[in-house]
Amino acid sequence: MSSAGRRRYGLATRLLFAQVVVLLASLLTAGLVALLLGPSLFHGHVLQVRPVWDPEELLHIERGFREASFVALSAGLLISLGCAIAVTWWMTRGMQRTLDALTTAAAEVSRGHLSARVSSAGGGAELDTLAGAFNLMAGQLESTEATRRRLLSDLAHELRTPISTIQLYCEGLSDGVLQWDEGTERVLTEHTGRLARLAGDIDDVSRAEEGRLELDLVPVAVGHLLASAVESHQDAFARAGVRLRDERGSADDVLVHVDVHRVRQVLDNLLRNALRHTPPEGTVVVSARRAGEEVHVTVTDSGDGIPADQLDHVFERFYRGDTARDRDHGGSGIGLTISRAIADAHGGSLTASSAGPGQGSSFTLRLPSPARQRPPRGEGTGRT
Ligand SMILES: Nc1ncnc2c1ncn2[C@@H]1O[C@H](COP(=O)(O)OP(=O)(O)OP(=O)(O)O)[C@@H](O)[C@H]1O
Ligand SMILES: [Mg+2]
Repeated sequence: MSSAGRRRYGLATRLLFAQVVVLLASLLTAGLVALLLGPSLFHGHVLQVRPVWDPEELLHIERGFREASFVALSAGLLISLGCAIAVTWWMTRGMQRTLDALTTAAAEVSRGHLSARVSSAGGGAELDTLAGAFNLMAGQLESTEATRRRLLSDLAHELRTPISTIQLYCEGLSDGVLQWDEGTERVLTEHTGRLARLAGDIDDVSRAEEGRLELDLVPVAVGHLLASAVESHQDAFARAGVRLRDERGSADDVLVHVDVHRVRQVLDNLLRNALRHTPPEGTVVVSARRAGEEVHVTVTDSGDGIPADQLDHVFERFYRGDTARDRDHGGSGIGLTISRAIADAHGGSLTASSAGPGQGSSFTLRLPSPARQRPPRGEGTGRT
Protein backbone atom coordinates (compact mmCIF):
# COMPACT_ATOMS: atom_id res chain seq x y z
CA MET A 1 0.00 0.00 0.00
CA SER A 2 1.40 3.43 -0.95
CA SER A 3 1.98 5.97 1.81
CA ALA A 4 -0.89 8.08 0.41
CA GLY A 5 -3.13 5.02 0.60
CA ARG A 6 -1.98 4.29 4.16
CA ARG A 7 -2.90 7.83 5.09
CA ARG A 8 -6.34 7.57 3.47
CA TYR A 9 -7.38 4.39 5.30
CA GLY A 10 -7.79 4.64 9.04
CA LEU A 11 -6.37 2.35 11.69
CA ALA A 12 -9.63 0.39 12.03
CA THR A 13 -9.95 -0.21 8.27
CA ARG A 14 -6.36 -1.40 7.99
CA LEU A 15 -6.66 -3.69 11.01
CA LEU A 16 -9.92 -5.17 9.67
CA PHE A 17 -8.36 -5.59 6.23
CA ALA A 18 -5.41 -7.47 7.77
CA GLN A 19 -7.77 -9.77 9.68
CA VAL A 20 -9.91 -10.44 6.60
CA VAL A 21 -6.78 -11.38 4.63
CA VAL A 22 -5.80 -13.88 7.36
CA LEU A 23 -9.37 -15.14 7.49
CA LEU A 24 -9.61 -15.68 3.72
CA ALA A 25 -6.26 -17.47 3.69
CA SER A 26 -7.47 -19.87 6.42
CA LEU A 27 -10.80 -20.36 4.67
CA LEU A 28 -9.11 -21.05 1.34
CA THR A 29 -6.85 -23.63 2.98
CA ALA A 30 -9.76 -25.24 4.82
CA GLY A 31 -11.88 -25.19 1.60
CA LEU A 32 -9.12 -26.77 -0.51
CA VAL A 33 -8.52 -29.46 2.10
CA ALA A 34 -12.26 -30.13 2.35
CA LEU A 35 -12.54 -30.24 -1.45
CA LEU A 36 -9.48 -32.30 -2.34
CA LEU A 37 -9.00 -34.61 0.65
CA GLY A 38 -12.36 -34.62 2.43
CA PRO A 39 -14.44 -36.62 -0.14
CA SER A 40 -11.83 -39.39 -0.64
CA LEU A 41 -11.28 -39.72 3.15
CA PHE A 42 -15.03 -39.81 3.76
CA HIS A 43 -15.49 -42.33 0.91
CA GLY A 44 -12.78 -44.60 2.41
CA HIS A 45 -14.43 -44.49 5.86
CA VAL A 46 -17.87 -45.24 4.41
CA LEU A 47 -16.49 -48.31 2.57
CA GLN A 48 -14.78 -49.48 5.78
CA VAL A 49 -18.19 -49.52 7.49
CA ARG A 50 -19.84 -51.53 4.65
CA PRO A 51 -17.89 -52.61 1.54
CA VAL A 52 -20.94 -52.83 -0.75
CA TRP A 53 -23.40 -49.90 -1.08
CA ASP A 54 -26.37 -49.16 -3.24
CA PRO A 55 -24.97 -46.43 -5.62
CA GLU A 56 -28.03 -44.14 -4.99
CA GLU A 57 -27.55 -44.46 -1.25
CA LEU A 58 -23.80 -43.75 -1.52
CA LEU A 59 -24.38 -40.68 -3.72
CA HIS A 60 -26.89 -39.34 -1.18
CA ILE A 61 -24.54 -39.81 1.79
CA GLU A 62 -21.65 -38.15 -0.06
CA ARG A 63 -23.82 -35.18 -1.13
CA GLY A 64 -24.85 -34.83 2.52
CA PHE A 65 -21.15 -34.73 3.49
CA ARG A 66 -20.40 -32.02 0.86
CA GLU A 67 -23.35 -29.90 1.94
CA ALA A 68 -22.43 -30.24 5.62
CA SER A 69 -18.84 -29.18 4.78
CA PHE A 70 -20.13 -26.18 2.80
CA VAL A 71 -22.48 -25.09 5.60
CA ALA A 72 -19.69 -25.53 8.21
CA LEU A 73 -17.25 -23.45 6.16
CA SER A 74 -19.85 -20.73 5.45
CA ALA A 75 -20.92 -20.54 9.08
CA GLY A 76 -17.24 -20.44 10.10
CA LEU A 77 -16.62 -17.59 7.63
CA LEU A 78 -19.58 -15.56 8.89
CA ILE A 79 -18.77 -16.08 12.56
CA SER A 80 -15.05 -15.29 11.99
CA LEU A 81 -15.94 -12.17 10.02
CA GLY A 82 -18.26 -11.04 12.83
CA CYS A 83 -15.51 -11.72 15.38
CA ALA A 84 -12.93 -9.81 13.26
CA ILE A 85 -15.25 -6.78 13.08
CA ALA A 86 -15.99 -6.92 16.82
CA VAL A 87 -12.31 -7.34 17.78
CA THR A 88 -11.27 -4.51 15.44
CA TRP A 89 -13.93 -2.22 16.89
CA TRP A 90 -12.99 -3.12 20.46
CA MET A 91 -9.24 -2.73 19.87
CA THR A 92 -9.32 0.47 17.86
CA ARG A 93 -11.96 2.25 19.96
CA GLY A 94 -9.58 3.07 22.84
CA MET A 95 -6.60 3.62 20.54
CA GLN A 96 -8.60 5.93 18.31
CA ARG A 97 -9.84 7.92 21.28
CA THR A 98 -6.30 8.40 22.64
CA LEU A 99 -4.93 9.25 19.20
CA ASP A 100 -7.75 11.74 18.56
CA ALA A 101 -7.12 13.32 21.97
CA LEU A 102 -3.38 13.51 21.20
CA THR A 103 -4.04 15.11 17.81
CA THR A 104 -6.42 17.68 19.32
CA ALA A 105 -4.04 18.45 22.19
CA ALA A 106 -1.05 18.81 19.81
CA ALA A 107 -3.07 21.23 17.67
CA GLU A 108 -4.02 23.19 20.81
CA VAL A 109 -0.38 23.38 21.92
CA SER A 110 0.69 24.53 18.46
CA ARG A 111 -1.88 27.34 18.76
CA GLY A 112 -0.28 28.40 22.04
CA HIS A 113 -2.79 26.83 24.44
CA LEU A 114 -0.15 25.15 26.55
CA SER A 115 -2.53 23.93 29.22
CA ALA A 116 -3.89 21.22 26.83
CA ARG A 117 -3.47 17.72 28.27
CA VAL A 118 -4.43 14.19 27.19
CA SER A 119 -6.23 11.86 29.58
CA SER A 120 -5.77 8.10 29.33
CA ALA A 121 -8.56 6.61 27.18
CA GLY A 122 -7.69 2.93 27.49
CA GLY A 123 -5.63 2.72 24.31
CA GLY A 124 -3.10 0.32 25.83
CA ALA A 125 0.13 0.72 27.79
CA GLU A 126 2.15 2.14 24.87
CA LEU A 127 -0.41 4.82 24.04
CA ASP A 128 -0.76 5.69 27.72
CA THR A 129 3.04 6.13 27.87
CA LEU A 130 2.88 8.32 24.76
CA ALA A 131 0.07 10.40 26.32
CA GLY A 132 2.14 10.71 29.53
CA ALA A 133 5.19 11.86 27.55
CA PHE A 134 3.04 14.40 25.70
CA ASN A 135 1.62 15.74 28.97
CA LEU A 136 5.12 16.03 30.42
CA MET A 137 6.30 17.94 27.36
CA ALA A 138 3.25 20.25 27.45
CA GLY A 139 3.78 20.83 31.19
CA GLN A 140 7.40 21.77 30.66
CA LEU A 141 6.52 24.08 27.77
CA GLU A 142 3.89 25.70 29.96
CA SER A 143 6.28 26.30 32.83
CA THR A 144 9.00 27.65 30.47
CA GLU A 145 6.45 29.98 28.93
CA ALA A 146 5.26 31.11 32.38
CA THR A 147 8.89 31.77 33.40
CA ARG A 148 9.48 33.71 30.16
CA ARG A 149 6.38 35.83 30.71
CA ARG A 150 7.29 36.49 34.32
CA LEU A 151 10.84 37.41 33.34
CA LEU A 152 9.60 39.83 30.70
CA SER A 153 7.12 41.49 33.03
CA ASP A 154 9.68 41.64 35.86
CA LEU A 155 12.17 43.10 33.44
CA ALA A 156 9.73 45.71 32.17
CA HIS A 157 8.94 46.58 35.78
CA GLU A 158 12.64 46.95 36.64
CA LEU A 159 13.40 49.05 33.54
CA ARG A 160 10.49 51.43 34.05
CA THR A 161 11.89 53.32 37.07
CA PRO A 162 15.36 54.21 35.76
CA ILE A 163 14.06 54.92 32.26
CA SER A 164 11.28 57.24 33.42
CA THR A 165 13.68 59.04 35.80
CA ILE A 166 16.21 59.56 33.01
CA GLN A 167 13.39 60.70 30.71
CA LEU A 168 12.10 63.21 33.29
CA TYR A 169 15.57 64.62 33.87
CA CYS A 170 16.25 64.91 30.12
CA GLU A 171 12.94 66.76 29.59
CA GLY A 172 13.67 69.00 32.59
CA LEU A 173 17.11 69.83 31.22
CA SER A 174 15.84 70.56 27.72
CA ASP A 175 12.95 72.74 29.03
CA GLY A 176 15.36 74.62 31.26
CA VAL A 177 13.45 73.58 34.41
CA LEU A 178 16.54 71.69 35.61
CA GLN A 179 20.16 72.82 35.58
CA TRP A 180 23.09 70.54 34.93
CA ASP A 181 24.66 70.37 38.37
CA GLU A 182 26.20 67.80 40.65
CA GLY A 183 22.81 66.49 41.81
CA THR A 184 21.52 66.01 38.26
CA GLU A 185 24.73 64.27 37.25
CA ARG A 186 24.52 61.97 40.30
CA VAL A 187 20.93 60.95 39.59
CA LEU A 188 21.56 60.33 35.89
CA THR A 189 24.76 58.40 36.57
CA GLU A 190 23.01 56.32 39.22
CA HIS A 191 20.12 55.39 36.96
CA THR A 192 22.18 54.70 33.85
CA GLY A 193 24.45 52.60 36.09
CA ARG A 194 21.38 50.74 37.30
CA LEU A 195 20.36 49.99 33.72
CA ALA A 196 23.85 48.76 32.88
CA ARG A 197 23.93 46.56 36.02
CA LEU A 198 20.52 45.18 35.19
CA ALA A 199 21.62 44.23 31.68
CA GLY A 200 24.66 42.41 33.11
CA ASP A 201 22.58 40.67 35.79
CA ILE A 202 19.96 39.52 33.26
CA ASP A 203 22.71 38.06 31.11
CA ASP A 204 24.13 36.24 34.15
CA VAL A 205 20.70 34.96 35.22
CA SER A 206 19.83 33.57 31.78
CA ARG A 207 23.28 31.96 31.48
CA ALA A 208 22.88 30.44 34.94
CA GLU A 209 19.37 29.14 34.24
CA GLU A 210 20.46 27.55 30.98
CA GLY A 211 23.54 26.07 32.66
CA ARG A 212 25.86 28.19 30.52
CA LEU A 213 27.88 29.77 33.33
CA GLU A 214 31.52 29.48 32.36
CA LEU A 215 33.82 28.75 35.26
CA ASP A 216 37.53 29.34 35.23
CA LEU A 217 38.52 26.97 38.03
CA VAL A 218 41.78 27.60 39.88
CA PRO A 219 43.02 26.33 43.23
CA VAL A 220 42.77 29.02 45.89
CA ALA A 221 42.96 29.08 49.69
CA VAL A 222 39.63 29.78 51.39
CA GLY A 223 41.37 32.26 53.71
CA HIS A 224 42.61 34.26 50.75
CA LEU A 225 39.14 34.41 49.18
CA LEU A 226 37.53 35.64 52.38
CA ALA A 227 40.28 38.08 53.34
CA SER A 228 40.08 39.94 50.04
CA ALA A 229 36.26 40.06 50.12
CA VAL A 230 36.16 41.31 53.73
CA GLU A 231 38.87 43.87 53.08
CA SER A 232 37.06 45.41 50.12
CA HIS A 233 33.88 45.89 52.19
CA GLN A 234 35.52 47.23 55.37
CA ASP A 235 35.13 50.89 54.39
CA ALA A 236 31.44 50.60 53.53
CA PHE A 237 30.76 48.81 56.82
CA ALA A 238 32.76 51.39 58.78
CA ARG A 239 30.80 54.21 57.15
CA ALA A 240 27.50 52.54 58.06
CA GLY A 241 28.66 51.88 61.65
CA VAL A 242 28.27 48.10 61.26
CA ARG A 243 30.98 45.80 62.64
CA LEU A 244 32.42 43.28 60.18
CA ARG A 245 34.18 40.35 61.83
CA ASP A 246 36.35 37.86 59.99
CA GLU A 247 36.36 34.42 61.69
CA ARG A 248 37.93 32.10 59.19
CA GLY A 249 38.79 29.35 61.64
CA SER A 250 39.75 25.86 60.57
CA ALA A 251 39.22 26.34 56.83
CA ASP A 252 41.78 29.13 56.43
CA ASP A 253 44.35 27.02 54.56
CA VAL A 254 41.94 24.68 52.79
CA LEU A 255 42.30 24.80 49.02
CA VAL A 256 39.18 24.90 46.86
CA HIS A 257 39.01 24.79 43.08
CA VAL A 258 36.77 27.70 42.20
CA ASP A 259 36.24 30.50 39.76
CA VAL A 260 37.62 33.28 41.96
CA HIS A 261 35.71 36.04 40.18
CA ARG A 262 32.38 34.19 40.49
CA VAL A 263 32.84 33.22 44.15
CA ARG A 264 33.78 36.84 44.88
CA GLN A 265 30.53 37.83 43.20
CA VAL A 266 28.67 35.58 45.68
CA LEU A 267 30.56 36.88 48.72
CA ASP A 268 30.15 40.50 47.60
CA ASN A 269 26.40 40.02 47.26
CA LEU A 270 26.13 38.33 50.66
CA LEU A 271 28.14 41.08 52.31
CA ARG A 272 26.21 43.87 50.54
CA ASN A 273 22.92 42.26 51.53
CA ALA A 274 24.07 41.86 55.15
CA LEU A 275 25.13 45.50 55.29
CA ARG A 276 21.86 46.68 53.72
CA HIS A 277 19.81 44.75 56.26
CA THR A 278 21.82 45.44 59.41
CA PRO A 279 21.27 48.66 61.37
CA PRO A 280 24.18 50.71 62.77
CA GLU A 281 25.85 49.08 65.78
CA GLY A 282 24.94 45.69 64.35
CA THR A 283 27.45 42.96 63.53
CA VAL A 284 28.17 40.85 60.48
CA VAL A 285 30.39 37.80 60.87
CA VAL A 286 32.10 35.98 58.02
CA SER A 287 33.21 32.49 59.00
CA ALA A 288 34.51 29.38 57.27
CA ARG A 289 34.88 25.83 58.46
CA ARG A 290 35.54 22.36 57.15
CA ALA A 291 32.51 20.09 57.26
CA GLY A 292 33.48 16.62 56.11
CA GLU A 293 34.16 16.82 52.41
CA GLU A 294 32.97 20.41 52.17
CA VAL A 295 33.96 23.90 53.13
CA HIS A 296 31.17 26.02 54.58
CA VAL A 297 31.45 29.78 54.28
CA THR A 298 28.81 31.59 56.33
CA VAL A 299 27.83 35.24 56.43
CA THR A 300 25.73 35.95 59.53
CA ASP A 301 24.20 39.29 60.40
CA SER A 302 22.31 40.62 63.39
CA GLY A 303 19.92 42.61 61.24
CA ASP A 304 16.36 42.53 59.87
CA GLY A 305 16.07 38.75 59.63
CA ILE A 306 13.82 36.93 57.15
CA PRO A 307 10.33 35.52 57.91
CA ALA A 308 10.25 31.72 57.57
CA ASP A 309 7.81 31.82 54.64
CA GLN A 310 10.18 34.04 52.65
CA LEU A 311 13.36 32.03 53.17
CA ASP A 312 13.03 30.10 49.91
CA HIS A 313 11.69 33.05 47.95
CA VAL A 314 14.79 35.18 48.50
CA PHE A 315 16.54 33.08 45.83
CA GLU A 316 13.86 33.79 43.22
CA ARG A 317 14.54 36.20 40.40
CA PHE A 318 13.67 39.83 41.21
CA TYR A 319 12.44 38.90 44.69
CA ARG A 320 12.79 41.72 47.18
CA GLY A 321 11.56 41.49 50.72
CA ASP A 322 9.48 44.28 52.27
CA THR A 323 12.49 46.04 53.77
CA ALA A 324 14.25 46.11 50.40
CA ARG A 325 11.40 47.40 48.25
CA ASP A 326 12.75 50.90 48.14
CA ARG A 327 14.57 50.81 44.83
CA ASP A 328 16.76 53.78 45.63
CA HIS A 329 18.40 51.77 48.38
CA GLY A 330 17.68 48.17 47.50
CA GLY A 331 19.04 46.19 44.55
CA SER A 332 17.22 44.49 41.71
CA GLY A 333 16.59 41.24 43.59
CA ILE A 334 18.77 39.13 41.30
CA GLY A 335 21.90 38.86 43.45
CA LEU A 336 20.89 35.71 45.34
CA THR A 337 19.51 34.04 42.18
CA ILE A 338 22.90 34.43 40.50
CA SER A 339 24.75 33.52 43.70
CA ARG A 340 22.85 30.24 44.06
CA ALA A 341 23.41 29.40 40.40
CA ILE A 342 27.15 30.04 40.85
CA ALA A 343 27.23 27.79 43.93
CA ASP A 344 25.34 25.05 42.03
CA ALA A 345 27.69 25.34 39.04
CA HIS A 346 30.61 24.63 41.41
CA GLY A 347 28.83 21.51 42.66
CA GLY A 348 28.01 23.28 45.94
CA SER A 349 24.98 25.05 47.33
CA LEU A 350 23.78 28.29 48.90
CA THR A 351 21.13 28.29 51.62
CA ALA A 352 19.57 30.83 53.95
CA SER A 353 18.38 30.58 57.53
CA SER A 354 16.89 33.04 59.96
CA ALA A 355 15.17 32.83 63.32
CA GLY A 356 12.64 35.38 62.04
CA PRO A 357 12.13 39.14 61.68
CA GLY A 358 14.57 41.16 63.78
CA GLN A 359 16.63 38.03 64.58
CA GLY A 360 19.29 38.36 61.89
CA SER A 361 20.01 36.01 58.99
CA SER A 362 22.65 33.57 57.98
CA PHE A 363 23.68 32.57 54.46
CA THR A 364 25.88 29.49 53.96
CA LEU A 365 27.87 28.83 50.82
CA ARG A 366 28.95 25.18 50.63
CA LEU A 367 31.86 24.40 48.36
CA PRO A 368 33.05 20.85 47.77
CA SER A 369 36.66 20.09 48.61
CA PRO A 370 38.92 19.52 45.54
CA ALA A 371 38.60 15.71 45.72
CA ARG A 372 34.83 15.89 45.33
CA GLN A 373 34.69 18.63 42.71
CA ARG A 374 33.83 17.85 39.14
CA PRO A 375 36.95 18.06 36.97
CA PRO A 376 37.03 21.04 34.62
CA ARG A 377 35.86 20.00 31.15
CA GLY A 378 38.44 21.75 28.95
CA GLU A 379 41.65 20.64 30.61
CA GLY A 380 44.43 23.15 30.01
CA THR A 381 42.10 26.15 29.88
CA GLY A 382 40.44 25.17 33.17
CA ARG A 383 37.06 26.22 31.72
CA THR A 384 33.85 24.33 32.33
N1 LIG B 1 20.98 39.46 55.01
C1 LIG B 1 19.70 39.63 54.69
N2 LIG B 1 18.78 39.97 55.64
C2 LIG B 1 17.48 40.12 55.33
N3 LIG B 1 16.97 39.96 54.11
C3 LIG B 1 17.83 39.63 53.11
C4 LIG B 1 19.22 39.44 53.35
N4 LIG B 1 19.80 39.10 52.19
C5 LIG B 1 18.83 39.09 51.26
N5 LIG B 1 17.64 39.41 51.82
C6 LIG B 1 16.35 39.49 51.12
O1 LIG B 1 16.44 38.80 49.92
C7 LIG B 1 16.12 39.65 48.82
C8 LIG B 1 16.89 39.22 47.59
O2 LIG B 1 18.26 39.46 47.75
P1 LIG B 1 19.14 39.62 46.45
O3 LIG B 1 20.56 39.73 46.84
O4 LIG B 1 18.74 38.57 45.50
O5 LIG B 1 18.60 40.98 45.84
P2 LIG B 1 18.92 42.45 46.23
O6 LIG B 1 20.04 42.50 47.20
O7 LIG B 1 17.62 43.08 46.63
O8 LIG B 1 19.37 43.05 44.83
P3 LIG B 1 20.73 42.75 44.01
O9 LIG B 1 20.24 42.18 42.73
O10 LIG B 1 21.39 44.07 43.83
O11 LIG B 1 21.53 41.80 44.82
C9 LIG B 1 16.47 41.01 49.33
O12 LIG B 1 15.77 42.00 48.63
C10 LIG B 1 16.02 40.92 50.77
O13 LIG B 1 14.66 41.11 50.90
MG1 LIG C 1 21.79 41.47 46.81
